[in-house]
Amino acid sequence: MKEQLQSMKIKAIDEINSSMDLKSLDEIRVAYLGKKGELTKISKGMKDLTTEERPVVGKLVNEVRTEIETTLANKLEELKLKKKMMKLESEKIDVTMPSKKVIVGKKHPITKVYDRIKDIFMGLGFCVASGPEIDTVFNNFDALNAPKNHPSRDKSDTFYINDNLVLRTQTSTVQIRTMMNEKPPIKIIAPGRCFRFDEVDATHSPMFHQIEGLVVGENVTMSELKGTLELFAKEFFGENTKTKFRPHNFPFTEPSVEVDVTCFKCNGEGCSMCKGEGFIEILGAGMVHPNVLRNCGIDPEKYSGFAFGMGVDRITMLKYEIDDIRLLFENDMRFLNQF
Ligand code: DAH
Repeated sequence: MKEQLQSMKIKAIDEINSSMDLKSLDEIRVAYLGKKGELTKISKGMKDLTTEERPVVGKLVNEVRTEIETTLANKLEELKLKKKMMKLESEKIDVTMPSKKVIVGKKHPITKVYDRIKDIFMGLGFCVASGPEIDTVFNNFDALNAPKNHPSRDKSDTFYINDNLVLRTQTSTVQIRTMMNEKPPIKIIAPGRCFRFDEVDATHSPMFHQIEGLVVGENVTMSELKGTLELFAKEFFGENTKTKFRPHNFPFTEPSVEVDVTCFKCNGEGCSMCKGEGFIEILGAGMVHPNVLRNCGIDPEKYSGFAFGMGVDRITMLKYEIDDIRLLFENDMRFLNQF
């Protein structure tokens, strides 16, 4: 029986040591130490032993049991550790792997142009003002001195919400709102969206962007208007840019001008960009009409002012040589990523 125990012990320890995982280790434990296990089976044979042999073999059974249990415990620790290491290994982060692509957005070219224009005028002491895209007929036309029969008031030109409300056709509405609420001196620019009943084509969109400027104070003169816009043109289009002020007519300014700048592509030589003219029109401007000041409760005898308005889409298209306004509003990343 002693030999039986010895050889069983050797076999058990051998099996334990060569077991590869927790499941098979537990099976070995049951096979030897379980209720129907081999050690239990052998110890059942003790009843046939003599009184002298019994304690000796009993002691041996206990020793064998302890030894198997110790080996099992050690192996259990070892396998648990191995399992943990494998888990860590499998979860290890490979910092050399290519990362997930993070797509960083970009500013829309119109936003970039707005930012640049704002920057220039803020440097000259202008504040940024804003107004709603839906505004009153009064703010959009009447207060701006537009005659009742002005063609821009027509329902085929302007989006009316009702008889008193329109989608603003120009940012000039913000001039009125500002002058109604603030006392001179006033020095603002007002960026924003405008709407007109235009058929969509390469140069027209029913929604477009403008930026308005307004300066009101005592003794504000036309030469300040010229100086301000000349400085803007040089800052925005380049140091060598020249400006040309042509007489024009707007209801809200008197006198009124349209301002051209030398073509920044050909420097005034004449090219396809400026259609051979050497100059490109960029904005409308003028001295604020006394009626407009009066409509806003500002005394035209005491105060004067100048104003200007620019089409931002057009300037963006010129600056980046974009030949179709629709590209600005289609949100095609292949286009937008180029800026
Ligand atoms: N509101 C004009 C337009 O939409 C642009 C403009 C011209 C604004 C002259 C002005 C200005 O303030 O003085 O065509």
